[in-house]
Amino acid sequence: MPKDFDPGLFRETLGHYPTGVAVVTAVTEDGNPVGMVVGTFSSVSLDPPLIAFFPMSNSRSFAQLRTARTFCINVLASDQEPLCRALATGGANKFDGVTWRPGPLGSPILEGAVSWIECTFEDVREAGDHYIVLGLVQEYALERSTLPLLFFQGGYGRFTPGSLVATPDPELIQAAQFAETIRSQVEDVSNEFGVNCSVLARIRWDAIQVLAANQGSAVEPFPLGHRQPIIPPLGAAFLGDSPTAEVDEWLGRAPDDGQERRDLNLALLGKVRDRGYSILAARPDAFNRYQAALSEFELSDRLPRKERLVRHAAAELADLFCPDLEPGQQYDIASIVVLLPTPSDLPTMALRMTGLPASSTTEQIESWIHALKDIAGKAAAVTGTRR
Ligand SMILES: Cc1cc2nc3c(=O)[nH]c(=O)nc-3n(C[C@H](O)[C@H](O)[C@H](O)COP(=O)(O)O)c2cc1C
Repeated sequence: MPKDFDPGLFRETLGHYPTGVAVVTAVTEDGNPVGMVVGTFSSVSLDPPLIAFFPMSNSRSFAQLRTARTFCINVLASDQEPLCRALATGGANKFDGVTWRPGPLGSPILEGAVSWIECTFEDVREAGDHYIVLGLVQEYALERSTLPLLFFQGGYGRFTPGSLVATPDPELIQAAQFAETIRSQVEDVSNEFGVNCSVLARIRWDAIQVLAANQGSAVEPFPLGHRQPIIPPLGAAFLGDSPTAEVDEWLGRAPDDGQERRDLNLALLGKVRDRGYSILAARPDAFNRYQAALSEFELSDRLPRKERLVRHAAAELADLFCPDLEPGQQYDIASIVVLLPTPSDLPTMALRMTGLPASSTTEQIESWIHALKDIAGKAAAVTGTRR
């Protein structure tokens, strides 16, 4: 061991190297499927065809995998992050609800994987606190021509070509076109109340500003096209009619997935669903920290480790989210968000008001909410869509 060996720094240094994500699966002697997520899958040799992966020597999943005659490497697709998270645990029932079929040699092929490679064990040798497992390739296939899931600095992502030409996101263009149909109403509200009013579209877990009318007293810090990661409690307004699985995914985006945090965010989502809007009270220090984290995230090309800072800063806003407004009282409000009904082939969208004057009365705030709901109601009537 080198004299100044620093395990934390070593791990961080290695974390700067991206990996793909694969699930190694097998069926144990007693007929149960087992699997473990590995970032260490690698090709080794073409002739003979050999692959490798490196399980921890104390991995219980690998101890079970090892009892099988064959195993299968499943390369995960970029839309399989939830499956990856489910299988990366040590839980005994982690295969419950996972759809798979037996490969030619019987090991599980996971539905939705990009490709799979079925192998026999060629060699298992000890290497420090890991094993080096060499697999002799027996069968393999490409299943889906899609982007693989990538892992980098402790976060998940996907490959983007280094071309200078940005690929247009068709959903985003549709959302911007829909926003144009309500432009005059959004501008009227912005003018009438002297506030900033924008339209947001939810693309995956980003809220993207697709239209902005900025007549507010405060300068809108983020330009048109700005992408803001949706992290609970923020984004609750987008989940007005989302199924449980989607709500679960949203809850899982919190910086920690503890029961207390889940309950808190679920309660806040319940409030937003009951009221039909979300409100964020302004507390300059917490809000500034959040905006600073967001700017840093943008400037860093959206690095996962910067996103973690955004997650923490967003979570700090929880006690400012959806305060109960008492009649006759005054409040400092940072933003109001109302779901904007859209045709079902469009992304989920929302209306947001910011740049609101300080010390506003409950009655004033209610009139802003009413104005946003009015735009949403008219959009629903015109398109005959979900609310
Ligand atoms: C992206 C990612 C990559 C991983 N890569 C490996 C790996 O290469 N080797 C390993 O032993 N564990 C790896 N793990 C951890 C295991 O998937 C998981 O924590 C472990 O299998 C569960 O506990 P167990 O030891 O009982 O099997 C990785 C986890 C993730 C999320």
